[in-house]
Amino acid sequence: MKDIITTLKIIKMLSNGEFHSLEEFKKILNIDYITITNHISRICDWGLDVFTIHGKGYYLHYPLYLFNELEILEHLPGGRLSVLSVIDSTNQYLIERINELRCGDACIAEYQTKGRGRRGHQWFSSFGSNLCLSIYWYLEKGFKAIIGLSSMISIVMAEILQKQGIKGVRVKWPNDLYLNNRKLAGILVEIYGERRSTAHIVIGVGINLSISKNKEHEIHYTGIHLQDVGINVNRNKLVIEVIDKLRKAMKDFERWGLAPFLSSWKMLDNFYNRQVKLCIGKKEITGINRGINENGALLFEHKGKIKMYLNGELSLRDI
Ligand code: BTN
Repeated sequence: MKDIITTLKIIKMLSNGEFHSLEEFKKILNIDYITITNHISRICDWGLDVFTIHGKGYYLHYPLYLFNELEILEHLPGGRLSVLSVIDSTNQYLIERINELRCGDACIAEYQTKGRGRRGHQWFSSFGSNLCLSIYWYLEKGFKAIIGLSSMISIVMAEILQKQGIKGVRVKWPNDLYLNNRKLAGILVEIYGERRSTAHIVIGVGINLSISKNKEHEIHYTGIHLQDVGINVNRNKLVIEVIDKLRKAMKDFERWGLAPFLSSWKMLDNFYNRQVKLCIGKKEITGINRGINENGALLFEHKGKIKMYLNGELSLRDI
């Protein structure tokens, strides 16, 4: 089924959380019953839990607060944001336009059909419920200037989310955000360019504020549904805050690197001074997490000695 516009119109109608009958859809959209049910099943595939009650119609458990492009652009200093409905991946969207972009150009999408996570994982995020955001930057100092970047971004993201009312947000090396020991957000930095010259980077941020019960199996980690823990986040304000703060933080990072952010990492580290397992391929070592250094390397104490780990193939687990 190609017609995405009608699917979007149905989502918009359902977004108020009220009942909508087949007759109402048929009358407003001028389509038959079978086509309507096909659109509804696509909406479920996109991660929204659509319920139906005989005689009343279809409804969503929670109202959806879709992006309001005008409101966001009015309050976002400098603008330069593309607000998309459905796209393969926001990172991919910027990568395809990399030669036309200026530092700080950004995009967001209500839904990604091929969202990318780290280590080749898929990143699934329900339509209109979360944040899928990418921002472009280039570093004149080249690839070496990227060291520690993703740790800096997780610190800035954790501080933003705390300010938005998600008080217990923590970071986990190298660049995950955690709440109540569950993953809340992930960061994917993709780098382009020649090793010795300017590095073009696309920073992708995925925050899963809400996860569809039907789609929990599609994510490879234990996520969290914020409304279940009594937290509501205004997505429009969140977008403005994330883009504005990341643009400022990138300028600071270009000048000073990770060093000025390190004291915040210590306070935010979910596993600081805790016993953890470090997985290196199939090997697991137990030790104590002693934080990170100015290169974003993990400081890991094992048998009384602290070693540094930079390798992206490592993962840290609770014990
Ligand atoms: C992770 O695996 O923890 C990183 C997930 C990053 C997901 C975001 S969502 C916006 C951007 N576009 C993508 O395709 N991926 C990133």
